[in-house]
Parts: sequence; C-alpha cells; structure tokens
Amino acid sequence: MPERPDPMAVDPPTALAGDAALVERGGTLWCEGVALSDLADSVGTPCYVYSETLIRRRYAAFSAAFAAVPHRIFYSVKANHNVSILRLMHGLGAGADVVSAGELYRARRAGFAGREIVFGGVGKRSDELEAALEAGVLFVNVESEGELRLLAELAGARGVVAPVALRVNPGVEAGKHAFTQTGHYKTKFGVAWEEAERLYEFAAASRHLAPVAIDTHIGSQILSAEPYDRALERLGQLLNGISRRGIKLRYLDMGGGFGVPYEGEAEIDLAAVARSAGKLAVEFNLTCAVEPGRWLVAPAGVLLTRVLYMKRLGEQNYCVVDAGSNDFLRPSYYGARHPVEAVRRGEPAIEVDVVGPVCETGDFLGRACLLPATDAGDLLAVLFAGAYGAVMSSNYNSRPRAAEVLVSGDAHRVIRRRESLEDLLAAEVADDE
Ligand code: LLP
Repeated sequence: MPERPDPMAVDPPTALAGDAALVERGGTLWCEGVALSDLADSVGTPCYVYSETLIRRRYAAFSAAFAAVPHRIFYSVKANHNVSILRLMHGLGAGADVVSAGELYRARRAGFAGREIVFGGVGKRSDELEAALEAGVLFVNVESEGELRLLAELAGARGVVAPVALRVNPGVEAGKHAFTQTGHYKTKFGVAWEEAERLYEFAAASRHLAPVAIDTHIGSQILSAEPYDRALERLGQLLNGISRRGIKLRYLDMGGGFGVPYEGEAEIDLAAVARSAGKLAVEFNLTCAVEPGRWLVAPAGVLLTRVLYMKRLGEQNYCVVDAGSNDFLRPSYYGARHPVEAVRRGEPAIEVDVVGPVCETGDFLGRACLLPATDAGDLLAVLFAGAYGAVMSSNYNSRPRAAEVLVSGDAHRVIRRRESLEDLLAAEVADDE
C-alpha cells in the first residue's frame, strides 16, 4: 500500500495546474489522500470525483484576485449544482447566480438566503419570476423589455418592488466556441446596448421596479482579460448616460466566463480583469458582482471510468470505457479536449480514441489519447470535469447517471448516489404499477 500523501503538501502553484485535482503517488493516481482505485472499488464507475481542498483553494485565489475591488462572488450554480458543492460554496462566503426555478430551489436548500442570490436567464417563465420575488433575491437580471414589463406586473400584483438589473449585450465577441459566446448580437442574450438606457428609464419610472444593477456576461471559457475590457468600456458609456438621468445603481454585475487551461493554455489574468472592473466600479461607486462557475470547479473534478474493452479497427485503436457522452458531453458537444490519464501510471505506449458505450458515433471522451499499455479493467481519469460535467449528463440510452464523490483529505463522501434502474422510471410509472 503506498503511503498516503498529505493533501496540503501540494503547494499552491502546483495545485492550480491542470491536473491538480490528482496527485501521483506509488505509481498510481490519488485525489488528495484517497487512491482512485480504492474509490472505484467502493463507489463503482463511472463516477465524478471532486477535491474539496482544491475548490477551497481556488475560491481563495479567486477572492484574492479581486481583493482590491469592492466585490461579491455569486457562484454560477449551473457549472456544478450538486447541493453539497453549493453548501461548500456558501460556507466559503459565496452568493449564488441561478437561472431557473430549479437552481433557485437548489440554492435555497443549500442555505443561500434570498439576498445572497442573483437570478438570471434569457427565458424566465412567470412562475420563475414569482419564485424570485418570493425568495427576495438581491436582483433579477432581466433580458428583454417583455420580461421587464412582466416583472413589473407581477411585483405590482404582490405589492412589492422588484430589484432589477438589465443584462446588456455589449456587442463583444469572446470565448473559444461559438456555442459559449453570449456577448454579441448573433447570440440571443440580453437587451441591445442601444436600448438599455431607455429601459433603465422605464424601470426607474415604474412604481414596482427598482433598477439597482447593470449586468453583462460575454461568454464562457475566456482566457484573456481583453474582451472584458471591451465589454466594461461599453458598460461605462451606458453608466454615464444612466447616471446623467439621475438613476443611481449599486452593483456592476460583470458575469462569469473565466476560462481554465484544458489544453495547457496560459491562465487568464484574473487580477487584470479585476483591475478593469474595479476602475469602473469605483468611478460609479458600485460593488462589483462576479459570477464565476468553471474557474472555481473545473480543475477540481475528474470523471473516473473503467476500461471495458480494447479493440482495433484497421489502424485505429479504441478503448471502450464505461462512461459515455451521456455522462460527460463536453468532448462530443463542443469538441473539447480534456486530458485523459491512466490511473495506473506508465510510459505512453499506445494512441487510442477513448469512447463510451452510447450508440452514437459522436460518443467519445478523448481522441488520439496517449496511454500506457492498457487492458480491460484498468481505470482512466478524464481531467477538468468538475464544471459542466455531471450537470450536463442525461439518461440517454437509459443509462443511470453516475455517482459523485467529494474528497477531503483522506475522507470521501458520496454526494450523489449512482442512479438505479428504478430511478429511470420514477417519473413515468406509479409505485404500485
Ligand atoms: N453568468 C452567466 C449569466 C452565465 O450564462 C454563465 C455561464 C456564467 C455566469 C458562468 O460562466 P463560467 O464562469 O462558468 O464560464 N456548458 C458550457 C458552458 C456554458 C456556460 C453558460 N453560462 C461548457 O461546458 O463549456
């Protein structure tokens, strides 16, 4: 049995590198003080494994980058909505950024007070806006004139004043994949920059709306500070106009989008983003609201999967594993390249496509992966799977969703049990059927 490593012995610079959720010890991979092979034996595969220590460390690093700026962090629940992760974030002092009644419910169950929540989303139903008012959220990020009018009506019917921000589409292109860009007019998000001032006036004139914030979110997996600068400059121009009209806001919500180095890219300079946001916030006497998701949790999670079969078709090697695109969609949906590592270490020996059991050609976790000699029964870890992993999983092919495990030191906790076959039918048939 290899000696248990001290999880705290991983110094911060190493901990922020790509594979930091895992350490290598005695020829095998560990998450903090727990051997992945032990976890696979006790919890089964596929399963998501998260390092609590790394989440804590990344939260501290994110806060430190914004330390000089009056700010509040609203963890973007969509990145990883497991209620235990939400409780952890709440305990660290985060608020929550939610985009649906479901996320609001999760956040409330995790202990977030209404005032610790911002509510966004491009297509909120009236029952969702009602739920936001009922919870007393800090503000609602409104994305259209129709929504603004509906919110005023709903608040009026309740005899309350709804605190609102307008999510402004600043017309800025940012982010790697077209599907995760949100800051220009070929994407559905927000209100047009040119419309925003008029809508702020409308909100200010309404007895049932209180404009308290300005909001933007330009995309996701952004690795440079530059697009934030451009978006903030556009917001600055708006803030000038808004304050000239005598409308006084309290928050500058700059969204999330901070990228992580999936493919070994340079880290985003968070301090530079914070400096730009801080300048604007100070100029207009605003508190900066930030909505990071991926940056906090992606590197802290891995997807652990077992090899079912090795096979060769002509020149092509395939490694068929027990996790598929229903468990982890990012590689097939975005063509995202996540490092795939053998749990039992060894020199690279073969180039393989790591594919899942789902009946789709697009069902792969990694292409042209270099692995050591690998056999059925071996374990693989897909790195950077802590964000937009479990949350985007489905039951396609009637595959029960994977378990999720939170590791802290040499302890671990199953924070979502593996779904059972009965779970698959739970919403379809009555118990006595
Ligand atoms: N705030 C708003 C309004 C958002 O729409 C998002 C993400 C965030 C914050 C958090 O963004 P983050 O800091 O995590 O980049 N499924 C895609 C990512 C979609 C992101 C959607 N919005 C992926 O797997 O890359």
